[in-house]
Amino acid sequence: MTSKQSHRKDEHVSLAEKSYQQPDDQGFKQVRLIHESLPELALTDINTQVKLGTFQLPFPVMIEAMTGGSERTGRLNDLLSQLAKAVNLPMAVGSQSVAIREPELAATFSVARLNDPVGILFANMGANHSLKAAKTAIDMIQANALQLHINAAQETVMPEGDQDFRWLKNIQQLVADLNVPVIVKEVGFGMTAETVQQLMSVGVQAVDISGRGGTDFAKIENFRRGDKDMAYLADWGLTTVESLLEMRRLKTKPVIIASGGIKTPLDAIKALVLGADCVAMAGEVLHHLIQTDLDATIVWFQEWLQQFKQLMLLVGAKNVGALTQVPVVFDQPLVDYMQQRGIE
Ligand code: FNR
Repeated sequence: MTSKQSHRKDEHVSLAEKSYQQPDDQGFKQVRLIHESLPELALTDINTQVKLGTFQLPFPVMIEAMTGGSERTGRLNDLLSQLAKAVNLPMAVGSQSVAIREPELAATFSVARLNDPVGILFANMGANHSLKAAKTAIDMIQANALQLHINAAQETVMPEGDQDFRWLKNIQQLVADLNVPVIVKEVGFGMTAETVQQLMSVGVQAVDISGRGGTDFAKIENFRRGDKDMAYLADWGLTTVESLLEMRRLKTKPVIIASGGIKTPLDAIKALVLGADCVAMAGEVLHHLIQTDLDATIVWFQEWLQQFKQLMLLVGAKNVGALTQVPVVFDQPLVDYMQQRGIE
């Protein structure tokens, strides 16, 4: 398992962890939730369950697409899927295109299904792949849904990156011909309302706006360049908060998953207040798994979910839907952003 692509998977994990930052200072900090001194609720009143498309989840939270495709990342998928099973939340595997090219790598992804035969698993691949490749990726892990990543900024900085980003027609075909839900996802650069409108116009019903503020693939890919001369693109893209605000301009909304810099339960609550249907964490989960072990990561995640529930109580939200009623105040840069982008 030493192909170039396998090596890249290992590098992504190492560099993501190397560039892990605590905590983000440019996204969720600019959003303040207004404190409610009299919630008039007990913790037992709080219902954290949600329906995400056709999936019933105990919390609006999932483990985001990261990895697979090498020996080391196969072990990570093994751990991530044990974690997903322990907390009973969905998990996406990382891009499976490497295993479509090199089928002997399929086990580094399918380990997730082996560990959790009835869990909700999302397949993942680039938006340029054929219907046949998409079906192979889905079958590989008996996926419940397929994430198609759109990663133009990452490919631009990636030394061996693609240069053809004509994806919409292919996405349209995949959505029409596959019999599992398709989620179109960014990889940490955010999405505008226009992007989501274009996606909806070709039949997409679920997006993952994956914004800036957490793992930064412009930085990671720049590090992998010999010359490292695209450092100036670090911080490219819309933050997760800006992307969620963009969604306010849509008349009809798709299912919205928010990822990108979600670390604390408070980040998650803020994303849901701003209109996300579910949040997803990549870098934060990876950080815990790498710095501790599976058992400690399970305990961390269980406590995280308990705190999420406590915060719902604190803001007076009896159920997840009620979070959108929570009053919120924005720092001036976000007010400026909304004004210039015509967001009300
Ligand atoms: C990723 N991400 C990612 N996304 C994707 O669609 N396919 C992939 O193969 C990968 N690979 C990958 C590897 C590693 C090590 C990390 C940390 C992340 C991107 C990920 O799903 C997410 O969109 C971003 O990382 C932003 O979320 P966080 O990390 O800030 O929570």
